[in-house]
Amino acid sequence: MLIVANWKAYVEDIRKAKSLLATSKKLARTSDITIVLAPPVPFLGVLAANNKSKIAFAAQDVSATTGGAQTGEATAQAYAAAGATYVIIGHSERRALGETNAIIAEKLAHALAHGLTPILCVGEHERDGEGRYLAYVREEITLALEPLTAKERSQVIVAYEPLWAIGKTAADAIESNDLAEMTLYIRKVLAELLPGKSSRHSFVLYGGSVEPGNIRALAADSGVEGFLIGHATIDPFTFSALVKQLT
Ligand code: PGA
Repeated sequence: MLIVANWKAYVEDIRKAKSLLATSKKLARTSDITIVLAPPVPFLGVLAANNKSKIAFAAQDVSATTGGAQTGEATAQAYAAAGATYVIIGHSERRALGETNAIIAEKLAHALAHGLTPILCVGEHERDGEGRYLAYVREEITLALEPLTAKERSQVIVAYEPLWAIGKTAADAIESNDLAEMTLYIRKVLAELLPGKSSRHSFVLYGGSVEPGNIRALAADSGVEGFLIGHATIDPFTFSALVKQLT
């Protein structure tokens, strides 16, 4: 199982960031969960420096191009140099700021070209009775992956994060049977984009109000290989409880 801790902008203090890293290292030593930390940009390089633990690091976003005169941007090359091996791309909080599927496709290619494993976030705003949300998610995946080569496509991790479930509580998250259905659907879409490859080869995560109270049920029969988790990862006790539920 993979747990990606998306600290978003919740962590604003290096001491807090270091204490979360220490907790994560302890958890990584005593479980076989792969923990990936996605700290805010100013902390990533500090935390990842001389990293000898099993912890991996992710950027929360990446620029769509190589370096140049782009104030405020950080490229995949710079993130890789700072110690990141993963990058979250197309998070709904970035899409809400105007990121389009075309930009997301460019970011995926850019990240892959510099050796980062992209975690592509997709998910509908709301669930309608007619299943239009399925077409919505299909389109997000297809538009992001179509411009890539087959090899590149196979390296992308898909995180299903329905917007209606993000940043709430366990009671508002998806039910595990609904997640199982969605995981299957996403694998089918990925299999169409990866001809000749079994859909079992694709890695699917879930995100949206995963907490210690629901992670075990969500992991049990849903078919996901892990979780992308926000608010429940920024308190050491809650984060420990989350990881322990899976071990
Ligand atoms: P949440 O966020 O766990 O706070 O719902 C998940 C995410 O947005 O990645």
